[in-house]
Amino acid sequence: MTVADNSAPVSLEGFNPFSDAVQQCPHLYYRAMQEQAPVFHVPGTDLYMVTRHDMVTPILRDTQLFSNRFGSAGEAARGEVVERIKAVLETGWPQVPTMLTIDPPYHTRYRGTVAPYFTPKRMAELRAPVEAIVDRLLDHLPEGEFDLVPTFAVPLPIEAIAYILNVPSDRMADFKRWSDDSIANIGTAISDDARVAAYHGIVEFQHYFAAQIEQRRTEPQADLMTDLVNARIDTDEGDTRPLDMSEMLSIVQQLLVAGNETTTKAITEGVMLLARHPEVFEKLRADPSGYAPLVTEEVLRLSTPTQGMFRLVTRDTELAGVSIPKGSRLVVVYSAANRDPQVWGDDPDRFDPDRTNLKDHLAFGKGIHFCLGAPLSRLEMQVAFERLGRRIERIELAEDNAFRYFPSFMLRGLTGLRVRMTPAAPDEERTDV
Ligand code: HEM
Repeated sequence: MTVADNSAPVSLEGFNPFSDAVQQCPHLYYRAMQEQAPVFHVPGTDLYMVTRHDMVTPILRDTQLFSNRFGSAGEAARGEVVERIKAVLETGWPQVPTMLTIDPPYHTRYRGTVAPYFTPKRMAELRAPVEAIVDRLLDHLPEGEFDLVPTFAVPLPIEAIAYILNVPSDRMADFKRWSDDSIANIGTAISDDARVAAYHGIVEFQHYFAAQIEQRRTEPQADLMTDLVNARIDTDEGDTRPLDMSEMLSIVQQLLVAGNETTTKAITEGVMLLARHPEVFEKLRADPSGYAPLVTEEVLRLSTPTQGMFRLVTRDTELAGVSIPKGSRLVVVYSAANRDPQVWGDDPDRFDPDRTNLKDHLAFGKGIHFCLGAPLSRLEMQVAFERLGRRIERIELAEDNAFRYFPSFMLRGLTGLRVRMTPAAPDEERTDV
């Protein structure tokens, strides 16, 4: 279910973000929170969920009171598994906080090392390679019914980031695995063995990219990792210094991970929405390049793959009458803000790319941590939807879809989507409008 049924009353008593009911359809709960408890303390945890759009934005601006030094976005390990994880991590490099998980001034220093790769100029240069990836993937889609996730939604962002990182394309399956391992415990209950296996994957990632970075030291190239090797960041003493290997690996890991699962999930949800709304798909077909950017923003709003993010509360405070002790974690629930009736009107769950306030969605966050890769995922999604509008006449959902979402309350997306796509007749393919 993607659309909340406003008529059903929902009780927040005993609300558990790890329960299947919440993870499969959280929107009714978020709506109830907006109405009954816009700052909701999750019973038995240090988590406070903030769901209203007008409350989320000021929190994102106050980076001193609400810090991004929340550790990792995953849930901390407890018990004997901690020793097992330590043993695995000792075979790699220490995991250090960089962009997402650190505050200014360090945040600004780290982000500055890779920000030049996500400028409008870079994106314009990337359009042709991204179009080539999308066209190739569409050329090879199976006939009849197929799962869109492994055939299209997974490879597109992985191939795009591999292109930016300038690494050989023969390791795509590993990139996908490492990126899954890096998010394995975010907002989900995970077994000890799965947790240890995920850390093995992270260390494997470190060794692969450390070798790539070392290669750039001896054979510099015009690319991102060479720039990381040559980067100098300001120190607190007014000096500059190079990044160490842990810092470089953390930055590369964030680029590899942050954009894969998220963009995959947004594209999948977008195709489902287009299949369910043929009238919107018709508009896209009528003006592929003009309408694809609007479809992209509305899909981002409704899918909000990064449903929320943590903020660490740095001193005792109060929000909307709720006392929050220092050391608690807020969850700024972007997906709730993106369906807040105060901003999106009486029918916030409706798929409507013609909304006039699409720019107000928070799918990429806001403020200093605003998604660095937003221009890249926008480019990928725009090209994907534009090409679907040009090349495909009809998208239908297979009968046997279970519409299951990954069991996470932080990263939301369908586990699979079986579709049938009818190609446009060659003379009907929209070349340009
Ligand atoms: C649909 C796709 C994507 C979504 C929904 C998304 C969402 C987000 C959100 C909500 C944040 C802010 C987190 C916060 O508030 O603390 C963020 C930060 C970030 N994203 Fe994305 N992202 C996407 C794609 C990408 C891509 C493609 C990349 C890189 C190639 C990327 C790299 C990052 C990085 C590095 C940060 C941290 C920025 C900072 O702390 O300054 N993201 N993303």
